[in-house]
Amino acid sequence: MRRKLIAGNWKMNQTKKDGLALAKGVFEAVAAQKGDFDVLVCPPMSLLGLIADLPHDGVALGSQDVSVAPKDFGAYTGDVSAAQVLDLGASYAIVGHSERRAMRYETDLVVREKAVNAISKGLIPVICVGETLEERESGQALSVVCRQVRESVPSTSTGENTVIAYEPVWAIGTGKVPSLADVEEMHTAIRAEVAALLGQEVADNMRLLYGGSVKPSNAHELLNAQNVDGALIGGASLKVEDFWGIIQTQL
Ligand code: PGA
Repeated sequence: MRRKLIAGNWKMNQTKKDGLALAKGVFEAVAAQKGDFDVLVCPPMSLLGLIADLPHDGVALGSQDVSVAPKDFGAYTGDVSAAQVLDLGASYAIVGHSERRAMRYETDLVVREKAVNAISKGLIPVICVGETLEERESGQALSVVCRQVRESVPSTSTGENTVIAYEPVWAIGTGKVPSLADVEEMHTAIRAEVAALLGQEVADNMRLLYGGSVKPSNAHELLNAQNVDGALIGGASLKVEDFWGIIQTQL
């Protein structure tokens, strides 16, 4: 039985004051009304440690990235290792978000190495995949995303230690959402790709999130689509009422 996961990706947002207030608001709402699903908050690295020090019963924390370096510590200026993320109190790490693939030139291989590092430290990578609008319009969406899955998901992945997030690039932050049929088609294809790669049992247990313009008004439908086991939420995770509004659709 796959437990749903509702994850907030704050991206490069929030000051210390606003971030702590947002986290507190989310933590208090979740503590007051827990559901049969997991909630994850991924603040920027600058706030992760501070937020982890707040009481956050029922909410897991994650980073938005981990270093690709194959070491816990060392001369990698600007990087934060999976071991350091774990030490801050996180249990998840987003890797391969399309913003990093596009703007930081991260390849499938880099994403896979980051996922390997996360898994080796006991962090659950949320491996992001998704096609651009051009790729969708030229009929390549399924092949592009399946290639990303094949090349970004490590051989050490299991249904329990890895999450995949399907986020069509053109749906991120745009208010546009694919049709339910397209979401289901893609999620079914991703699960089949994971089965071909790692076996049916791993595929059956792995959570596949949908991400891209999820909001309270569309969350119920998207989160109950076939093969969709949760959501990765950007913009709507930055306001307690929006994030809580999404969570509430699952209560
Ligand atoms: P969005 O972002 O919800 O603002 O579209 C999703 C994401 O990038 O993870």
